[in-house]
Amino acid sequence: MKTQLDIFLETNLNNLKNKGLYNIIDTLDGANGPLISINNKEYINLSSNNYLGLANHPALISKAIEGLQKYGVGAGAVRPINGTLAIHKELEESLAKFKGTESAIVYQSGFNCNMGAIGALMTSKDLILSDQLNHASIIDGCRLSKAQVIAVKHSNMEDFKAKIQENIGKYEKIMYITDGVFSMDGDLCKLPEIVKIAKEFNVITYVDDAHGSGVTGKGAGTVKHFGLQNEVDLQIGTLSKAIGVVGGYVAGKQNLIDWLKVSSRPFLFSTSLMPVAASACIEAISIISTSTELHDSLWENSKYLKQGLKKLGFNIGNSETPITPCIIGEEKLTQEFSKCLMNKGVYAKAIVYPTVPLNTGRIRNMPIASHNKEMLNRVLEVYAEVGKELNII
Ligand SMILES: Cc1ncc(COP(=O)(O)O)c(C=O)c1O
Repeated sequence: MKTQLDIFLETNLNNLKNKGLYNIIDTLDGANGPLISINNKEYINLSSNNYLGLANHPALISKAIEGLQKYGVGAGAVRPINGTLAIHKELEESLAKFKGTESAIVYQSGFNCNMGAIGALMTSKDLILSDQLNHASIIDGCRLSKAQVIAVKHSNMEDFKAKIQENIGKYEKIMYITDGVFSMDGDLCKLPEIVKIAKEFNVITYVDDAHGSGVTGKGAGTVKHFGLQNEVDLQIGTLSKAIGVVGGYVAGKQNLIDWLKVSSRPFLFSTSLMPVAASACIEAISIISTSTELHDSLWENSKYLKQGLKKLGFNIGNSETPITPCIIGEEKLTQEFSKCLMNKGVYAKAIVYPTVPLNTGRIRNMPIASHNKEMLNRVLEVYAEVGKELNII
């Protein structure tokens, strides 16, 4: 007899398969670098968040080995019991310096930061105004907090102000949450206006800069890009994209970090970040803080790719960062485009509805510092071929 669980799983899996929405996950044979191998076939990789190439950098590998030998594989406990190792404190100090804040707290992932930090501050008596294109982890963190959540039109400052005015006085606290860099279009949040409005109405500001750290602000992120380190209450980041490892952090004032350390649940109840990861992250931050070489290559490569795609006649949207969408439109055509790229050795994923609005399906290209011109020229050649074959250019 089929159980309720079997029926649920079968119905929902078949539903996805029938609609062509069941995602078959590719497995990489080796490292996630500028070139990747899948089933022994090599591809130019335009789908990783390894912006600076640090995930495979020899200096990080060597520091990881050092950390591994000194601290072992696991931290052995949650942070407040005895899972706080010297390497975690060192990482938090280097993150605070990197972000220009009094202090920082490290979590096991960027996702966990949003699970922990929002709910530690916002209660059922509070209101969260959240940009409608914010990342899934922010949406889930908001839900967990039990605060009233109202979506604000994407980067629309009139809507932000109007929603504050409609609600002022009804709640104990109001928080505005935004991505620093929006991951599907590559646009930056309008931080100077956000800060100005937030100050006027005493709104708490929360910027999740997962795609900005290491990329914008000469590496220090979007808040630094706008020179507003002292004006934003919470700066969130991930250690898994440009930093190249895994983990997440919140940077801000000392009293904020002290509170998160005693109240945010993933910090209190989940074993701390692997020490080997902390060790590699410290090296990554040191590289980013002392040289702009990787950052400059990243931006040069993205400029080259963007110019090349535009010259070919593709619609590349309005990205202000290395995230390079190539907007195809119709969902099936976008999927087909991505498959054709892959058949010709270019790995770039299609992003379609519901992740982006209907009829704005796109190939999301992520150039990284360790691509070379030969790889990017080949990408442009393939784009030209596929674009013509599918009558897009
Ligand atoms: C804005 C934002 N926040 C959080 C995350 C999650 O970060 P992590 O992969 O470290 O859990 C992401 C990752 O895509 C993101 O884009």
